Amino acid sequence: MFETLQSAPPDAILGLNEAYKGDPNPDKINLSVGVYKDADGKTPILECVKEAEKRLLDAESTKSYLSIDGAPEYGQHVQELLFGADANIVADGRVATVQAPGGTGALRVAADFVVSMFPSARIWCSQPTWANHPNIFQAAGLNQESYPYTDVATNELKFDEMLLALQNVPAGNVVLLHACCHNPSGIDPNHEQWQQISKVIADRQLLPLVDFAYQGFGDGLREDARGIAELCRTGGDLLISSSFSKNFGLYRERVGALTVVSQDAKATKTALSQIKRCIRANYSNPPAHGAAIVNVVLSDAKLRSTWEQELATMRKRIHRMRTRFVEIMKEKECGRDFSFITRQRGMFSFSGLTPEQVDELRETYSIYIVRSGRINVAGMTESNVERLCDAIASVL
Ligand code: LMR
Repeated sequence: MFETLQSAPPDAILGLNEAYKGDPNPDKINLSVGVYKDADGKTPILECVKEAEKRLLDAESTKSYLSIDGAPEYGQHVQELLFGADANIVADGRVATVQAPGGTGALRVAADFVVSMFPSARIWCSQPTWANHPNIFQAAGLNQESYPYTDVATNELKFDEMLLALQNVPAGNVVLLHACCHNPSGIDPNHEQWQQISKVIADRQLLPLVDFAYQGFGDGLREDARGIAELCRTGGDLLISSSFSKNFGLYRERVGALTVVSQDAKATKTALSQIKRCIRANYSNPPAHGAAIVNVVLSDAKLRSTWEQELATMRKRIHRMRTRFVEIMKEKECGRDFSFITRQRGMFSFSGLTPEQVDELRETYSIYIVRSGRINVAGMTESNVERLCDAIASVL
């Protein structure tokens, strides 16, 4: 049977990462996959994570299954990060969280839940969105539409067009929003824009599904959750996918969560029971280790403070690289203004490079960038940024 199959194309992001690994050029630069690099070009294990793992190794007493929704204390920590300490919606029983294998796993569970409970619902994604969103939703059988988001000419948010499009989405549909550090553009709505988006979503009776993969990489832990706070203020239903790949550096441990908010405790309990049914049919129950690390760090005041400092270090380094890149590109006088990159947040920005320029950068300079022109700013370092800028200036 397999002889008749045709090969699938390499993944737009992870496929490039594989090509990068196979490139023998010692000066190669990887700005493809969203992975943080420190000043030495390494993806470090955070100190707080190392310490938590030591403690876990000593304390762990069983490898028996977790429950379908994972460790309850993990859910509490996720909720505290999302809504702040002592949030009313949590005290009122309107929130439930399930542990999931990464943000991708959480998004897939959310999609399975929507398809099984609301089969006629469609999901509306920003144009553009993370390249894996369409794969996840298609695999779940969820029909997709898009709303305008990035203005590629100005590198700004097409806010009026976005709002108008959302005003015309039929009730009962799902709207995918990026909580912060929009992937791939780095362009986020401001506070007032979040208020308007939340109002339209409530008025139109839409279900927001928020992808929250970069908490703490934008402006700070609480600042990055302000869109979620606005969506909660309207009192409606909400789904949130969290990921701890980036902010804890736990990429390969696959640590994420899906949180459901309903209008009352009864509806939340019912929704949770259906979400658990979806999980059971998918991966049965979640892997333990990564979430246990997050639990240990967030339960200990000292480790939590170390984590917040390490997160701030990563955030500040990315901000600094944004500034350096723009400064150097200005010196190159290549006729292109990149100053918008300092106004954007998180790991990514659209460089404006064409697919052909991206190909030339890879083939001639061993510089790996997603073909859409998305660059991972967190892959730039003081020692590679000059070479990167030279190469970009030459292909421009
Ligand atoms: C990215 O967008 O590069 C990251 O979210 C990693 C991934 O899985 O695509």
